[in-house]
Amino acid sequence: MTSPSSAREHSSMSASDSRHRLVFTALTSLAALAVVLQGLWAGLFLQYHDAAHRAQRESWIDVHALGGEVAIALAVLATIWAIWRLRSRRDLVIGAAVLTVLLIIVAYIGGLITDDEKDVLIPLHIPLALITLSVAVWLPLRAAVHQPSLAESKDRVRT
Ligand code: HEM
Repeated sequence: MTSPSSAREHSSMSASDSRHRLVFTALTSLAALAVVLQGLWAGLFLQYHDAAHRAQRESWIDVHALGGEVAIALAVLATIWAIWRLRSRRDLVIGAAVLTVLLIIVAYIGGLITDDEKDVLIPLHIPLALITLSVAVWLPLRAAVHQPSLAESKDRVRT
């Protein structure tokens, strides 16, 4: 049978796990939003082709570059948080690390397109960006699933 003190201990462990997952959810949801906005900034600069609108195009590309940095920063924070507070959730730790690496690759490819005029990489940049969006949406949904710790599982078996 579960003693009252062990029940209290587990309910406080479970409350802090929920709080930790909530922070992770917030960070990864914001990263997902940043990636969606990347599509918006891209749509805004892609409408300007001619030399007359060069300045507008360049300023939206700058916003797009900054948005990429924000998305990467959020993914890095989510990864650090998962390693620090949700270490037993390997799915979240690995998922957040994968998101970070993917975003860095997407941003690097974007830089090659803009700076080295490698337009041939646009068909790689955009699908990869969509894959990062799928991972960024999957992570907060996955974080909502509570996986009992070993101690909780053992306790449940005993009762
Ligand atoms: C569906 C979403 C996206 C679309 C349609 C898109 C499209 C593009 C295009 C067409 C360019 C080349 C711009 C040019 O003509 O020079 C570009 C550049 C770039 N993209 Fe994206 N992109 C998307 C998502 C992302 C994401 C998620 C990131 C962040 C990781 C990102 C980071 C960059 C960067 C850093 C550049 C180079 C900007 C610069 O060097 O000033 N993009 N993007």
